[in-house]
Order: sequence, then structure tokens, then C-alpha cells
Amino acid sequence: MLKTQHMLLLLCLVGAANALYKQWIPDTNYENKTNWDKGAVPCGNDIAQFSAQRKVSVFVETLHAVKEMRLPVDGEFILNSGAGFFVLPGQEPGCGQGVATKFKDSDSLQWFDPALWQGAATLDDLQRGNVLFSVHEERVPCQYDDVVFKALSSFKVDTSSSQSSIPVKSVSVLGKKFDSGSEFSQYLSSHTGRLQFHGSSAVTVGNPGCGDPSGCECGNSVNHERICGSVKCAALNCKMPLSPVGHCCEVCGAIVTVHYAGGFNMQTYRQRIHNLFLILPQYKSIQLGISKVSRSQRLLVIFPFGASPEIQVTILDGGDGTQAEALAWDIVKDVRTHGSHLGITEAEFQASSGNSSDQSAGSVGMVVGVVLGVLITIVLILIAVALVRRGVIQMPSVRLSLSSFKRNSDIGELGGPLDHGFANPMFDNLNTLPNIPDLHNSISITQTGGVYFVNPVYDENETDFNA
Ligand SMILES: *[C@@H]1O[C@H](CO)[C@@H](O)[C@H](O)[C@H]1NC(C)=O
Ligand SMILES: *[C@@H]1O[C@H](CO)[C@@H](O)[C@H](O)[C@H]1NC(C)=O
Repeated sequence: MLKTQHMLLLLCLVGAANALYKQWIPDTNYENKTNWDKGAVPCGNDIAQFSAQRKVSVFVETLHAVKEMRLPVDGEFILNSGAGFFVLPGQEPGCGQGVATKFKDSDSLQWFDPALWQGAATLDDLQRGNVLFSVHEERVPCQYDDVVFKALSSFKVDTSSSQSSIPVKSVSVLGKKFDSGSEFSQYLSSHTGRLQFHGSSAVTVGNPGCGDPSGCECGNSVNHERICGSVKCAALNCKMPLSPVGHCCEVCGAIVTVHYAGGFNMQTYRQRIHNLFLILPQYKSIQLGISKVSRSQRLLVIFPFGASPEIQVTILDGGDGTQAEALAWDIVKDVRTHGSHLGITEAEFQASSGNSSDQSAGSVGMVVGVVLGVLITIVLILIAVALVRRGVIQMPSVRLSLSSFKRNSDIGELGGPLDHGFANPMFDNLNTLPNIPDLHNSISITQTGGVYFVNPVYDENETDFNA
């Protein structure tokens, strides 16, 4: 019985470990001097001024002396216990002449601005400033993340997006955690909620967390353009800049691609990389982000067979990428010796110097890939042959030379428009196929192309969009 409980607890811990906490950085606090146009909190001789039209919820933590205060038409102060305002009878010593200080406008701060968020693996890490580096798309809360607005603070965030809702796991506001959808939408329609959240999309909570120990895809690629809209990319000084999936800018550094199998745990692996490498003095300036991404796979270059998830480790060093490359090597070597214990089948890297792990010992994966590719091709050919034998599909005559055919010259021979599926130039020699009564949902064999499928998803009524 005790054992079961332990098991359950362990599962909970592992499950929870995959969610990240994303904290909104700006606030609308009275005490934060960056919120005032003079760069200082108004003192006893100053006039604290809020623009009349701005709707804002301001958190006040302590007691303040002011000479005068000009308030907005619609807004609110959230007073911490013991907080408030009073007017001094005389001058406050050490406060200077006294000026009118304006509270800055925070209406334009966007939910999808990656610079305004920081992420951490635990709430504790967030508080201690142990924040994680990640690609731009994942700085903004992912669908399974816990969103945190600092406890003793208020804020204003514009949630406009092209989507009608922004799903997340939970939202914490003013120290209260909302993880039920109805409770949070009630909060959003309250006076404070409407001052804090504005914009066309509604943040919705109650999304399940990431239940996959190997990690989950963030889901922010639908908002890629909006996320990247405010990002300014730095000038680069490396030979072959890299483009990490989910990042807005090209970077100098290295990308390690990790292929995993059952037993891989994202959180454990993140900790391993931290404990083995990131704490070393030579990697002090390294920024490393781990994410699960999907890249569409191509067999024998031309044959797309869907997207398969893999782990992308993005490594930047703030320089030309030399340190990042050294770390990428360390990570690949670690996988080659300990990968099987970690549920990792393979890892390779590409660096912005042009170097990659394939240059030396890394050819094993390549060989495996080619062998696998050839095997799959053989299986597909066997299936095709079997189907032909059973009369399910018709076998076109195999032509030995395709070079003697001119492109586009023999469409007429086909007796009608031809569905090309994707406008892939590799498939242009379809035009040279002999007369096939029905090309849809069929498999054919030619000398050059090997085997291809015509994608049945494409509407039969759609005509040739190459023409
Ligand atoms: C004050 O606001 C700035 C910018 O919004 C933020 O970076 C900083 O953390 C805030 N200061 C405190 C003490 O929270
Ligand atoms: C690229 O690889 C070569 C050979 O392994 C090495 O000498 C060189 O330092 C590497 N370049 C970088 C930028 O690390």
C-alpha cells in the first residue's frame, strides 16, 4: 500500500516537472521606479500624475507621502496592508524641489512579446532568479505552462492575437492560482481583471499539463509572426548562422539534435546537462535551451513521411560560437557513451562554424539512415508488387530513359489534367509517365523516382495548379 502511494507521488513529481513556470516581468506597481517618467517614485514634494484616459490597476505596497495626486477616470489602487498615501504638512527633507511625475503608460505591453517573460522549472527557481534560456516561441507561455504574475504586484497585458483564445494550464494573479476555467473567466470579467487583461483574445486556464515525460511541443508556432514581430536580431559574425526551430533570429553557436526512444525524460536530461556541463567555468557564458520540436522527415531526400518529434538543444555563447561548439561536442560524446541509459538513440550537432558531428565518428547514424531507407524502399516495392499481383493497382510500363522526354510536352498524352499533389519540382517528371487511367490513390514505379504516393488528401477535383 505504502509502495503504491510512493509510486503515485513519484509519477506526480515527474508529470509536474515537465511544466514550466512563465513569469510576466513588467508590473504596474507604484514602488517600481521604472514606471515613472522621471525614473523615481514621487516623494513628498512631488505631484503623482496618472493620465486621465489610462485604465490601470496600480499595486501599492507601502505608505507614501505626496504633495498632490491626479487620478485617472477609470483605474484602481490595490493597497497592500499598511499601504496608503498622505500629504505632508511641510516639505519633505531630501526630496528636492518637487516635480510632476507621470505614471508611464503600459497599454502597449503585449502577451506575445518574448522579452517580457522569464521561465523556470520551479516556482522556487523563479524566485531565486534561476531562469531558463529558451527559443523565442517558448519564452511566451506554452499551452501546458503555469503563468505567474508576481504576487505583490499588478500589471497590464494586451492579449491580442489572431486566435480567439490563449490556452494555458494555470494563471496566478496577486498570489492566487486559477486552474479552473470558470473561476478564471469570472476573474477576467471583474473590474481588476478588465484593467489587467485587455485585447482581442481571452486567456483560458485549465489546459492539461504536459503528461509526456519526454516533453511536449510548446504550441506557439501558430503565433510565430506575432512573437517575432517585436524581436530585433543582433548582427552575427559566424560563417554559417543557424536557425533553431521556434527562434526568431539566426544565431551563432550550435544546435544538437537528440533522437530519443522510450525512457527519455526531458527534465532529467535538462538537469544532467546542467550538472555535467553548464556548471563548468569554461561554459559560464553559455545559454542553452532544450525543446521538443517537429521537423518533417524525408526519406532519401525526396520522400516526406511526416513529422517526427526530436529534442533540439540550442547552444549560444554570445560570441562566435566556439564555446558553444565545444559544448555541443561534449554533449554528443556523452550521448555516445551514456545514451542508452538516458533513452537516447542518437545525437548530432551542427555548428555555425560549418563544423558538425558528421565530419568524424558520426557516420554511423548516416549509415543506419541509408540502410533503413533502402529497407523501407524495398518493403514499399514489395507491397506495390503484391498490390499489382492482386490487381488492386495497375502497373505502368517501366521506361528506362526519361531524359528523352521533354517537360510539359506530353500532358496531352495523359488525356486530362494531372494531380501533382505538392508542387514539388522533383515530381515534374510525372508528366512523362505513360497513360495511367486513374492516378489518384495509386502507387507507380518508374526508373528514376523510385516509389511515390499521390497524396489522397488532395481533392480529386482540384486541377493541375502547375499549369
Ligand atoms: C520594475 O519593472 C521592471 C520593468 O518592467 C522590471 O524589470 C523590474 O523587475 C521591476 N522591479 C521590481 C523590483 O519588481
Ligand atoms: C572545427 O573542427 C576542426 C577540426 O575538428 C577544429 O580544428 C576547429 O577548431 C573547429 N572549429 C571550431 C570553431 O571549433
